[in-house]
Amino acid sequence: MKKLVKNNVYWLGKVDWGVKGFHGDEFATHRGSSYNSYLIQEEKTVLVDTVSASFAKEFVENLSNEVELNKIDCILVLHGEGDHSGALPELMKHIPDTPIYCSANAVKSLKGQYHQDWNFNVVKNGDKLDIGNGKELMFIEMAMLHWPDSLAAFMTGDNILFSNDAFGQHYATGKLFNDQVDQCELMQEAMKYYANILAPFSMLVKRKIAELTALNLPIEMIVTSHGTGWRENPQQIIDKYDEWANNYQENQITIVYDTMYNGTKELAEAIAEGIELEDQDVLVKVIHLAKHDLSDVIVEVFKSKAVAVGSPTILNDVMNSVAAFAHYTKLMKLKNKKAAAFGCYGWSGEAVKLLNQRMKDAGFDVIGEGCRISWAPDEDAKKSAVEFGRTIAKA
Ligand code: FEO
Repeated sequence: MKKLVKNNVYWLGKVDWGVKGFHGDEFATHRGSSYNSYLIQEEKTVLVDTVSASFAKEFVENLSNEVELNKIDCILVLHGEGDHSGALPELMKHIPDTPIYCSANAVKSLKGQYHQDWNFNVVKNGDKLDIGNGKELMFIEMAMLHWPDSLAAFMTGDNILFSNDAFGQHYATGKLFNDQVDQCELMQEAMKYYANILAPFSMLVKRKIAELTALNLPIEMIVTSHGTGWRENPQQIIDKYDEWANNYQENQITIVYDTMYNGTKELAEAIAEGIELEDQDVLVKVIHLAKHDLSDVIVEVFKSKAVAVGSPTILNDVMNSVAAFAHYTKLMKLKNKKAAAFGCYGWSGEAVKLLNQRMKDAGFDVIGEGCRISWAPDEDAKKSAVEFGRTIAKA
């Protein structure tokens, strides 16, 4: 169903209420998602992005109900990833010669995915496209927000920034704008999206926000490729990205662990007690890794100033969920955070030493040697875990 964005600009995307995973199942989309495509009907008719391949036929049918397909003057592919370009092959069957405006890297990604030699028109930072009625689309390179091919486009006159992935959320809602939805849900999903998708590129995000600010564009509305757009104070999400990109942390310490016979779980709780005894202001969260999705856990790490990671030793190493946590955390390239390791063992007991090294490799500043307890923790062992919690809080 077509929805009005502003004046002659319409949303024609797909709300995917049921999707539970993005990037395969790497990112748990508990609140679904949407693939936002926009139709600009000025003197020129311009389509901005498409939707996921799963909805290609439905999308092209809806589009053809709104506009004769051969009246589309051009298509902007702001980013080649399949969630936005997936319906292109179906659409281009109908209008194979229609110009596609995109970055040079997007040509590579589209050719790589669809093996078609469409009518590509490469655009660069600052290039402008006249769409009639005195309005233009100005392209802004957004490399790594989210892929090397990403672009945004600013529409003059209506002052709309088509930001593609940047500023989006995996958040299914029938509403197009931030002022129409639950603010807690919106900001939770915007942060989760940043922490999982953009955090590894925070240095580039900072630079891009500075460049965007320097352009001094009169942005009245940001429309994204996922979730809601921002029309009430659109600057707020730009400011949030600037804050999140700048070694973000809250007054939180997160304890993550896995456990076989509850020994390491008991240590986790004793460490939490120690932190709270030492610092009554800090927010402490304890997470059993095997029971949670890593894309949720990483948000807690993103918010934390320190993380304690626990695993018993199994087969001379750590448990799978803890290994996956350390790996994922390394990929996120988080800065300015501390880590500490703990765990029980029966025989060889390598887990704590390995975790110290893995968290160091992930860029964390490791606190001490860790808390390593043989067999099930007795009262003395729990006291030493409480002390270790105090040490973490002091650090
Ligand atoms: Fe929403 Fe990078 O695709």
